[in-house]
Amino acid sequence: MVEKDSFEPTKGDETMTILADDGTVAQRIFDHIDNRTTDLSETSWREPVENYRSTERLAAEIERVLRRHPVPFCPSAALPDSGSYVARDAAQTPILAVRGSDGQVRAFRNACRHRGTQVASGAGCEKAFVCRYHGWTYGLDGALRHVPHEYGFPGLDKSARGLAPVECVERDGLVFVKQAGSVPVADLLEELPPLVGAGWRLLDTSQGEVPANWKILAEGFIEGYHIRSTHAQTFYPVQYDNLNVVETFGPNSRVTYPYRAIEKLRTVPPAERSTDGKLTHVYHLFPNVMLATFPMNMFLVVLEPLAIDRTLLLTYTLGKGDGPPPGGARSPTGRGPELIDAGAVEDRAVACSIQRSLASGANEFFEFGRCEGAIGHFHRTLDAALAAPR
Ligand code: FES
Ligand SMILES: [Fe+2]
Repeated sequence: MVEKDSFEPTKGDETMTILADDGTVAQRIFDHIDNRTTDLSETSWREPVENYRSTERLAAEIERVLRRHPVPFCPSAALPDSGSYVARDAAQTPILAVRGSDGQVRAFRNACRHRGTQVASGAGCEKAFVCRYHGWTYGLDGALRHVPHEYGFPGLDKSARGLAPVECVERDGLVFVKQAGSVPVADLLEELPPLVGAGWRLLDTSQGEVPANWKILAEGFIEGYHIRSTHAQTFYPVQYDNLNVVETFGPNSRVTYPYRAIEKLRTVPPAERSTDGKLTHVYHLFPNVMLATFPMNMFLVVLEPLAIDRTLLLTYTLGKGDGPPPGGARSPTGRGPELIDAGAVEDRAVACSIQRSLASGANEFFEFGRCEGAIGHFHRTLDAALAAPR
């Protein structure tokens, strides 16, 4: 894997690379199985522990990175119809995304233009948003349509008091929101590879608070060095320890975790190899979103920092077409969602354990090895984004 040093989220970004196709990924995996190797980055990475503990650092990450980067807000499947909406905090800002009657998804700061009450919460489907405080009413396009007893607001220009928009682009099954910064979101996403695609429906949305820094949780998704130690009874029986294909594209990365069932492809001619159902891809969509593929499901996991030591972990579970609900999905082991859930519990336990040790003084830095290269790419990119001119 080749690392680039600069964070250049501009149009025509040279750091964008095309991800390997199925045949190439399968061959790289077979080479690693045969040689007992894994993808290695050029160097290891040392991340100061202070960067997980500093409130100033977190404030800068939120203000200068999470709000300025186009971040997946929800899957398109969460907004299936005209009037479908999702309201949640993103980068500590209440945001409302809604599909309009024209089919377009728009996003707004979720704050009434009278006195700031949030006009929607959770998810659902509405014809209009009526503020519960005094009844100011907004259309699906954010326009202020109705003010009760409007005579009390002399000179009110309703056309200037619609919900405050934020940049929003729907791309290949994902809704991206960018809250600040001058580079248009569509330009930043121009070279994004296909990610979700059509035909998925939302099976479940869940969320929970985890007492760990958001970056510690992110790191757990993007290296396979811990599969045997951490996931001895869950992922390791069906996967490999420390055997990954690691690719980066722009600020993002894709880490591929093969299943042992990939051996079945050995006898398939290389040009005809499809890795569907034979591996998990984890896409790290910089800065704080993971997209993980499983045989029957896709999971969009958003890591929303609440404080230096608390993160809201939000999971959207997608399924294909009219396929079985999560309880019926199968994995190569015959244990489907329970296996994924159990693995996730193990990852969260480790993250919380790390969090509790941060103040111990044992480590001035954490060292991520060459087999944990996607994490080095993450921190290098984050550093560059924080240092970029405003
Ligand atoms: S705050 Fe929304 S109508 Fe008053
Ligand atoms: Fe894990």
